[in-house]
Amino acid sequence: MYEDIFKYQPDLEVLILIGNPLVFIASRAFSGPLALKNLSLGESKIKSLSDIPSDNLAYLEVLDLGGSDIRSLDGLSSFHWQNVNSLQLDMNSIDRISQTDLQPIHNVVGMSISFKGNDFVSIEPGAFQSLNLSSLDISGCFRKINFSSILRGLEGITTNKLNLGLYETDSNVFIPSAALQSFCKILVTDLDLQLQHFLDLNNSTFHCLEGLKKLDLTRAHLDSLPFNMTGLSNLSHLVLDENRFSDVCNINTKNFPMLTHLSVSGNLKPLGFSNRCLESLRVLEELDLSHSSVKLKGPCCNDQLFGLSELKLLNLSYSLPMVWSSQPFSASPQLEHLDFSHSLYALNDSSPFSNLQSLRTLNLSWSNTSLTNMHIFNGLKTLQLLNLKGNPIQGGVLSHAELFKYVPLLETLILSSCKITAFEENLFKGLTQLRQVDLSENKLVRLSTSGFYSLYSIQLNFASNAIVTVDVGSIMNFGKGSTVDLSYNPLVCNCSNFQFINWVKKNTVNEN
Ligand SMILES: *[C@@H]1O[C@H](CO)[C@@H](O)[C@H](O)[C@H]1NC(C)=O
Ligand SMILES: *[C@@H]1O[C@H](CO)[C@@H](O)[C@H](O)[C@H]1NC(C)=O
Ligand SMILES: *[C@@H]1O[C@H](CO)[C@@H](O)[C@H](O)[C@H]1NC(C)=O
Ligand SMILES: *[C@@H]1O[C@H](CO)[C@@H](O)[C@H](O)[C@H]1NC(C)=O
Repeated sequence: MYEDIFKYQPDLEVLILIGNPLVFIASRAFSGPLALKNLSLGESKIKSLSDIPSDNLAYLEVLDLGGSDIRSLDGLSSFHWQNVNSLQLDMNSIDRISQTDLQPIHNVVGMSISFKGNDFVSIEPGAFQSLNLSSLDISGCFRKINFSSILRGLEGITTNKLNLGLYETDSNVFIPSAALQSFCKILVTDLDLQLQHFLDLNNSTFHCLEGLKKLDLTRAHLDSLPFNMTGLSNLSHLVLDENRFSDVCNINTKNFPMLTHLSVSGNLKPLGFSNRCLESLRVLEELDLSHSSVKLKGPCCNDQLFGLSELKLLNLSYSLPMVWSSQPFSASPQLEHLDFSHSLYALNDSSPFSNLQSLRTLNLSWSNTSLTNMHIFNGLKTLQLLNLKGNPIQGGVLSHAELFKYVPLLETLILSSCKITAFEENLFKGLTQLRQVDLSENKLVRLSTSGFYSLYSIQLNFASNAIVTVDVGSIMNFGKGSTVDLSYNPLVCNCSNFQFINWVKKNTVNEN
């Protein structure tokens, strides 16, 4: 890059040159723009920060040098850091950091810095001391340095987020509990330790993390958490995805009385969910046990959800087949979102949701839900979204308008892949708020729109059905905001469809 190339671009604020094999930048290359704010030189061949002329970068907010060839932090001092909020140095070859290296950014508050994927050899103890960052990413940096050395380097830092995780291609790291004592000198609210191993996990391993709010232990090779832990008592979010718990009880959740969000998704073996395991989580709002092959000993879900009276979201998708007790969700009457996709259940009573007066979304896709039980949605007065994908309709004809009389506020209805051949004329008439109906991947031979309350503003999806001809009368009354998707139907191109084809020519919406 030679001098003055942007001479006539005074308003230029964002300059993205990612992936260019830059080897030289003239000292006046950035003169011209009055206030360049974002400079992305990622994936270049730049070897040193000192090779970037900083004179005209006084207003810089974002500096991205990820994936370059930078070997050290030399040159950091020549930049103006006061406005910078993001410094990306990930995937470089920086191998050491000393206290003096970071001196130039000591007075900047709220910056995000990423060193992800640098193979550090040494970090001077206290190198990050008194830095006040928004986030710091040191993930995937443990190939040549041990965990304790990195943490000693971080002592004295204040940062909202801290990522000390690993990636699949990294070799194993075993964190000794003693190393985590450094956290007594680190102020952090959101910590990521994904893919790490704990060498000697015990009841005081996390005792210095009393201030932590969010902890991500995705795939941290855990089969239990200690019984009586100190620390972590202020945690609000805990992610334990892709571990090896044999039962939810082994998480010992009474250590986390302030938890509002718990995720144990993708557990690597079938996850038992014994009674009253989560009883102490009085303020829990979201529980995600999806993809964990949850297996229950008794009927679902009141004994398991005992105590979770504040729960708003329950995700039990991809669980093992289970039996629902009558009124299975009375332990959590405030539920707003319920996801049972790909989970088979047997009912004990015809109206399982009758106490869920706040439920807004219900996903029963691929759950073998039978719509012959006309009272199944009884009680769902505020339901806005109902996903019934993949539940075959017996006989192919969807009838019984009573089915939907319980869900007057429904806006989105998904009935795709239900083997529907036809539906009753007035089926959806009572649904005055209906805005989206997905009837794709069925066996409908007719496009029928007379069953809807209004065609004023509605999105209909009839894709992948068996519709051959379309009676133009059925779509004439579409309002401006309405659409119908008829892709992948065997529509014929002969005179029977002449009017329809003309209509399409005049009314096609181009998706962009
Ligand atoms: C932690 O474990 C040790 C040894 O197993 C035990 O002596 C101690 O009482 C435990 N601490 C708490 C708080 O339960
Ligand atoms: C439930 O979990 C699955 C898989 O993790 C996810 O795709 C889905 O969006 C979740 N459902 C809700 C309602 O959050
Ligand atoms: C269930 O359906 C809802 C709404 O369509 C969707 O947000 C959610 O991701 C679905 N869950 C799964 C597991 O696909
Ligand atoms: C158009 O094709 C369909 C399906 O092949 C056929 O049923 C119909 O009779 C045809 N109409 C005319 C006018 O040829």
